[in-house]
Order: sequence, then structure tokens, then C-alpha cells
Amino acid sequence: MKRIPTFIALSFAATTLSADELPRALDPSDFFDVNIEWAAIGRNLFFDKALSGNDNISCATCHHPALGTGDGMALPLGEGGIGLGLQRVAGETNIPLERVPRNAPPLFNLGARDFDVFFHDGRMFRDRSAPFGIRLPKGNELERRMPTMLSAQNLLPLLNVEEMAGQPDENPVGRAVARNRLTGPGGAWDLIAKEIEGIDDYRNAFDWLIGADEPLHISHIGIALSSFIMYEFRAANTPFDRYLRGDDDALDAAQMRGMELFYGKAECSSCHSGPLMSDFEMHALALPQFGPGKKENADFPHADEGHMRTSGAYEDIYSFRTPMLRNVTLTAPYGHNGAFTTLEAMVRHHLNPLQSLGNFDRAQVLLHDVPSITDDWVALDTTGETFRIATAMSINPVPLNDAEVDDLLAFLDALTDPVALTGRLGIPVTVPSGLDIDMPQDQP
Ligand code: HEC
Ligand code: HEC
Repeated sequence: MKRIPTFIALSFAATTLSADELPRALDPSDFFDVNIEWAAIGRNLFFDKALSGNDNISCATCHHPALGTGDGMALPLGEGGIGLGLQRVAGETNIPLERVPRNAPPLFNLGARDFDVFFHDGRMFRDRSAPFGIRLPKGNELERRMPTMLSAQNLLPLLNVEEMAGQPDENPVGRAVARNRLTGPGGAWDLIAKEIEGIDDYRNAFDWLIGADEPLHISHIGIALSSFIMYEFRAANTPFDRYLRGDDDALDAAQMRGMELFYGKAECSSCHSGPLMSDFEMHALALPQFGPGKKENADFPHADEGHMRTSGAYEDIYSFRTPMLRNVTLTAPYGHNGAFTTLEAMVRHHLNPLQSLGNFDRAQVLLHDVPSITDDWVALDTTGETFRIATAMSINPVPLNDAEVDDLLAFLDALTDPVALTGRLGIPVTVPSGLDIDMPQDQP
């Protein structure tokens, strides 16, 4: 009897997927080049509370590297809170009036050239007919052409009352935002740029990059922040990536089985497709709704109608962007509102969305305890609203057994890039404003 050489037998046993069923490997050319000097300034700005109206919150408060570039909670407690993650509490001044209505998304791989649909509901996207080629959320307009969409996006949290600007009676930026004075001299962006320019260490650092005579403009701040995010949070060297580059030993047996399911029977790759594992399209998965909502539908003020708010098309109701999945084991809780605290619950939701919606366990939702906020469960307690969500569901449920779910979870674990845990430039010890930096203490 002729014996098959073991290496051939092994490679046959390894996968039944053909090469064109798997995505191509990510390549450095898939990402924008990053200027490290801009990234270095951006790192300070990212952690510096001076960018907020009340000098009390930074980008990192909601996108902290120690919390998977999120805040570890379902819905953030924005401006006015104190502390990080689970330990964050409402402050005694500038008390937060509402939670932020959606989950703080992870910032991994946002420097990919093909990443061009922003926010959970895809309300910012590439559009040749829009000013400077970018369709921005209603009410926002750019002052200058920006080099990347990310650099433009990074200027938006600054204008958000709950996230960073603060209330009109609290500070000049909050006041400018309330009067809808965002752009131009004396507008919110101009006030922020002037404040940063007034800090010598920032001005000196920018002198090198823009010239000592060039006034600091908000666009420079956007370029610096985005350069940091692109440099720091790139995740392209996971076991799965090494497998795609030809390392047949990169995945263990369970991860291989999970990959087969993901790109086969479980149909995950019909939406989590391509090198970035997203089609960047909108789908309605019927996640349970809680929190303040978007206050746009008078009958259902606590609803969040997803992409319909942008497109105006009823077929887009409750649809949200397919998320990319690199580092997904680090980015709990999951979904556009952080409804599911465990990855398993999120995956199982896909398999039977309506059952998961009906049996939703609100006790597992991670929300900060804020006595002044009492409307968290209005949407979920409104039968009509949950019914609307259920009828809009558009995913094709695929039943899987427990062993298959375990294998899928093993595969998702193979999407973890260890560098993402340590960071590249890391968390600064101090920032130029001298304000304190949010640091993880005893995070779970
Ligand atoms: C109070 C918490 C909070 C703060 C502070 C905050 N963000 Fe966010 N960020 C969010 C939430 C929530 C979203 C999602 C909003 C949505 O999709 O509607 C988001 C979305 C984003 C996105 C889009 C990601 C994607 O997948 O489309 C980027 C990029 C981002 N934030 C960067 C920043 C930067 C840079 C700063 C500082 C200038 C910042 N954020 C400050 C909570 C915050
Ligand atoms: C019909 C398209 C579609 C299919 C098929 C699909 N997903 Fe998703 N997935 C989405 C969308 C859209 C979301 C975000 C939904 C939301 O937030 O409302 C999501 C969210 C997720 C999340 C949460 C990520 C995060 O950062 O919060 C994970 C994990 C996930 N999907 C894994 C899977 C797995 C595993 C499969 C296969 C069993 C799968 N998905 C099949 C569209 C899809």
C-alpha cells in the first residue's frame, strides 16, 4: 500500500476552504502612511483633557488602550464624569444629564484605506458630491480639506455636548456649540485650537511641523489625533493574519474549525467579509434598545433608528454597520449599544436574534450607576418599540450547536494582535496641559 506523506495528509486535513473563500492577507500598503512626528503630538492630544470644554475628559476616557480602545461599558458616561471604565462616576459639578446613546467603538485599524464608513450607523462616508469629498453628519461642515476621513472624524467628538464640549452654562466651547457656532472665528473649533495653541509645549511641537508663523488650526489637531490612532492601534499581525500569509501552524485545531464555520456554514463572512472582516454595509440584527436613544422620533424618543436617520429610507431602519473584528476579544461589551457583555452572547444573538431579543437579560448590561438618569429602559419597556425592532430584523439566522459556537469563539480569539495590548507609543506619563490623565486602576 502506498503511504501518503504526512505533510500532504496534514494540509488536506487542515481546511476544506479554497483560497478564494478566505480573504487576502492585510498588507502594509492597505494602510495610510503615518508621520511619526504628527503621531507623537497626537498621542499627547489623545490623552489630554484640554481638548474638552470643561477640561475634564479626553478621547482616551472613552477609547482607552487598557480597555481595548473603548471604555469597557455599554454606554459611556461622557463629559462630567470622573474616572475610567467601571470606576467612572458622575462628578459633583457638571453632572452628566444623559448617557452617550451608543457604545464607544474600538479604534483598531481605522488607518486602513478601505475603512470609509464611520460611526455605528454609517452616517459619515466618502461622497464625491459632498464638500471636500466627505459626507458628514447633518450640521457639521469642514473648514479645510482634510488628508484622511479619520482626521475629519476626529474633530467631531469635540463638538458633542455630552461627549466633550459640555453645557452652554459651563464653558465657552459648550456655549458656542449650543449657539451652533461651530466653524469660523470665535466658533467652537477656533476656541479649542486657540486653547491648545496657548500651551507652549504644543505650540513648540507644532512649530516644527507647520512653521512658527502658521497659526494653529483645528485641522492640525485632527491630523495629529488621527496620525496617533493610525499608528498606535494597527492590528494586522494576529494568528489569523499569519495563517493567511502562509503559516499553516498559526491556528490550533479549534481555531481552524472555527475558521471553517466562519467562512462556510455559519455564513459570518457574508457580512464580515474581506481583509478587514466587514462589508461596511448596514444590517438590522435586532439588538435590544436601551439608554437615551436619539430623540428624533416623537412617538419613540428613546429609539435609535440606525442608518435610516442618514438615508431617510425606511428599509434602513435599525440597521447598523458591520463591525471589523480584529481584537474583538478585547473590546467587550458588544454591539452598537454594548447590549452584550460577553462575546458568546453576541455571537449567539446572531444565531437566533428574536429569541435573544425576547430573553434579553438587562441585568448583565454594564451601565454606570447615575441616580439622576432614570430613563434607561423606556425603549425596552415599550412593547411597540421592541416589536418594530423585531420586524426590521434582516439577518438570516443559522442554527449552530454548542461545540460549533465554541469553535467560532476560538477563531475570534485568533484575531487578537498582541501589540495592541501594549501599544506602540503607549500612554504618556504627563501631557502638556498638566491636567491629569485617566489611568486604569484595578480594571477587570
Ligand atoms: C464620551 C465618550 C467619548 C469621547 C470622549 C470620545 N469618543 Fe469617540 N466615540 C464615542 C462613541 C459613543 C462613538 C460612536 C458614536 C456613534 O457611532 O454614533 C465614537 C466614535 C468614534 C470614532 C468612529 C469609529 C468608527 O468605528 O466609526 C472615532 C474614530 C472616534 N470616536 C475617535 C475619538 C476621538 C479622536 C476622540 C477625542 C477627540 C473621541 N473619539 C472622544 C465615544 C467617545
Ligand atoms: C447579515 C450580516 C451579518 C452576519 C451574517 C454576521 N454578522 Fe456579525 N455583525 C453584523 C452587524 C451589522 C453587527 C453590529 C450589529 C449592531 O451593533 O446592531 C455585527 C456584530 C458582530 C459582533 C460584535 C462586534 C463588536 O465589536 O461589537 C461580532 C463578534 C460578530 N458580529 C460576529 C459574527 C459571527 C461570529 C458571525 C457568524 C455566526 C456573524 N457575526 C454574522 C452583521 C453580520
